[in-house]
Amino acid sequence: MKVNGKYYRTVWMEGSTVFMIDQTLLPFEFKIFVAKTCKESCIAIKTMITRGAGAIGATAGFAMVQAYLEAPQNGFETFVLKTKKEIEDTRPTAQNLFYAVDRVFEAGKHSIENAITEAQLMANENITEARLIGEYGNELIEDGFQIETHCNAGWLGFVDWGSALAPVYVAKEQGKNIFIYIDETRPRSQGARLTAWELKNENVPHAIIPDNAGAYYMSQGKIDMMIVGADRVAANGDVANKIGTLEKAIIAKEYGVPFYVAAPLSTFDMNSRTGNDIDIEQREDREVLYQTGPDDTGEIREILVSNPGSGALNPAFDVTPAKYIKGIITEKGIIEPDKSKVKMLF
Ligand code: MRU
Repeated sequence: MKVNGKYYRTVWMEGSTVFMIDQTLLPFEFKIFVAKTCKESCIAIKTMITRGAGAIGATAGFAMVQAYLEAPQNGFETFVLKTKKEIEDTRPTAQNLFYAVDRVFEAGKHSIENAITEAQLMANENITEARLIGEYGNELIEDGFQIETHCNAGWLGFVDWGSALAPVYVAKEQGKNIFIYIDETRPRSQGARLTAWELKNENVPHAIIPDNAGAYYMSQGKIDMMIVGADRVAANGDVANKIGTLEKAIIAKEYGVPFYVAAPLSTFDMNSRTGNDIDIEQREDREVLYQTGPDDTGEIREILVSNPGSGALNPAFDVTPAKYIKGIITEKGIIEPDKSKVKMLF
């Protein structure tokens, strides 16, 4: 997508350096974070400089290339295996991270050039698949639709286009009149900060709503459909996504709002039989207790927004059982999220 008239990918690699849009500074500042080493790429994933399943995957693939490039001749294999584990330990839930690391690791067994080619290929596939998800998802969107989304599953969460927002961008391209309700998505506010920033840039009409306002708007008949992304899809069609997704799905069922998940096949994990097998990341309580934003001078600062001395719990994801999901929009088409349909994709 374009930012100030210039085309950007969310993450890319040139030589041994990984470049990524720093998502911790958006929407207040647009800056590129430069990761010269594998360690720096790992820090970027862990601290959410880059985030969202698809972008995490692409970055992790590039980080694996950096691991190969940094490995000393003496003890090459030990170094590569140890560093692979360090990349895998950055964030546990997004399946794309493991998918990408495995693919580049396997490719690198033949040669480092092979690992580089594989990582770049994966980043390109990430874009093609997202665009296809956009085209399939667009078929569900009627002119005049009001759509709710949670978190950020737009182009910032992928290399380009996104998953949940890709159908929105294709619908907009086709001149459909649409309006997006964006859940703010506490505690990191990916909706209020990132999705709103993306949609504003693309001139898609939208409003940020408090996380607890979804039921109100659904009960008022304002929402025609809900589309969210996914961090991991289990073999039975259960979906792990940003915390708060589950309650939206339950409410959507109550009010008869079709609830869709958009995700490429690289997000499916056939080794997780059900959502119960998915590891849910628990993040630090600081993200709940504090908020960040620019002060009067424009400097980004952190302020306490909770009772001093109180602790907090911060699960980053929840699992939505397949029974609440009307369809999963993939690059191969839209499937019903039950076991046999998921199996047919592979
Ligand atoms: O913690 P994050 O910001 O990496 O979580 C992102 C989400 O949960 C997205 O909804 C998900 O990755 C969908 S695809 C970008």
